[in-house]
Amino acid sequence: MEKYLVKGGVPLRGEVSVSGAKNAALAVLPAALMSGDVCTINNVPKVEDIHVLLQAIQHLGVKITYENDGHTVIMDCRKIEKVTVDYEHISKIRASYYLLGALLGAKNYSKVALPGGCNIGARPIDQHIKGFKALGAEIEIEHGMIEVKTDKLVGDTIYLDSPSVGATINIMMAACMAEGTTYIENPAKEPHIVDVANFLNSMGAKVKGAGTHIIKIQGVSKMHGSEYTIIPDMIEAGTYMVAAAITKGNVLVRNLIPKHMDAITAKLIEMGARVDVYGDSIRVSYEKDYSSIRVKTLPYPGFPTDMQPQFVALMALVNGVSVMTESIFESRFSYTSELGRMGADIKVEGNTAIINGVSNFTGAQVRATDLRAGAALVLAGLAGKGDTLISNIYNIDRGYECLEDKISALGGWIKRIDTEKKPELKVVS
Ligand code: EPU
Repeated sequence: MEKYLVKGGVPLRGEVSVSGAKNAALAVLPAALMSGDVCTINNVPKVEDIHVLLQAIQHLGVKITYENDGHTVIMDCRKIEKVTVDYEHISKIRASYYLLGALLGAKNYSKVALPGGCNIGARPIDQHIKGFKALGAEIEIEHGMIEVKTDKLVGDTIYLDSPSVGATINIMMAACMAEGTTYIENPAKEPHIVDVANFLNSMGAKVKGAGTHIIKIQGVSKMHGSEYTIIPDMIEAGTYMVAAAITKGNVLVRNLIPKHMDAITAKLIEMGARVDVYGDSIRVSYEKDYSSIRVKTLPYPGFPTDMQPQFVALMALVNGVSVMTESIFESRFSYTSELGRMGADIKVEGNTAIINGVSNFTGAQVRATDLRAGAALVLAGLAGKGDTLISNIYNIDRGYECLEDKISALGGWIKRIDTEKKPELKVVS
């Protein structure tokens, strides 16, 4: 089992480049199955969730080749031999459900192991199912597998009870080759919804309104291959922005779309960080003491739940009382007890964390309870005094490409170590 050893106290300085968006790639790669053709996808992040997904796609009979150091994925989807994805291939990732929508759209049938992924709440898929049913699919859930089948999909109007990212993308994909027109009302508006819609359109689909309050999908009878480049990962970008702020450094985060970062930028400025926004990069630097803030996570364009743990780590080092309210996932505060081991003073009441700022963290042995929680612990370790040893880093590998290389290039001290060889853990008081 590998762990991260982080030595804190060095302000991060320099430039870091953001990889392709994991959550966009997790949908774009399955969507390529609908082309029945060859698709070339650029800017694919080399992270564990994508690795697992591509193995599952390969298992379906798709020929996959890689270029550009693995960041370009060429998928030959002309011969899809299987439409069932077993537990062993996909149980580890949440986005397995995108194979349902894509294969249902392309082949009128799919059977996929129920989603796994980060343990951050109940994470139901009732809205996905509601959408598939409205399009004319029958659903059966048995032995940990979900089976969706139909003779023919027909467009309909689907109102989502909550703006679910996964349900929006899944229904959007399935509807691309349905007969007639589908409307998704109250859809999610995240940038990667728009990215997936753009990719579907590049394959001949007719999707309009992605990113707005209603998405219209006019069914087409056939789609075709395409070459597409995935957008930058706004959460990875946000994580490096907070890394700069929490270590009181000065970092230029490159290759991002500033508009996607608005909620994060606004909160950093409100705290007192200096944020300079350029065409496709943002610089975050330390100028003066930060002040406490209140943040509430909301669907895009609100503050992203995937930045909640990283921000809580930062807020925990700010003088005064800060408040974080989580409104998307009910169990997304379990990592706060890990931050507590490093000296943070955080009280969780329901969906709210009350954060009493402390002057410093001290290194400790902690556990990455999920992907973003893991990122928060790395940031806390970089800001704190002494050595922090983070276990369960496979959770971090799921979504951050070359994390230790990127942080090391900014002057931070982080190493991946083999736990067989026990490191000497020295905590500086
Ligand atoms: N929900 C339902 N029913 C559904 C679907 C969702 O009630 O059928 C609820 C969820 O319980 C939650 C809310 O709707 O309260 C939003 O869930 P959503 O479906 O939007 O989340 P998701 O599609 O499962 C994606 C990202 C998450 C990210 C959320 C919110 C992927 C693969 N995952 O999850 O990313 O937190 O949207 O933005 O795109 C991460 O990258 O660390 C991560 C967890």
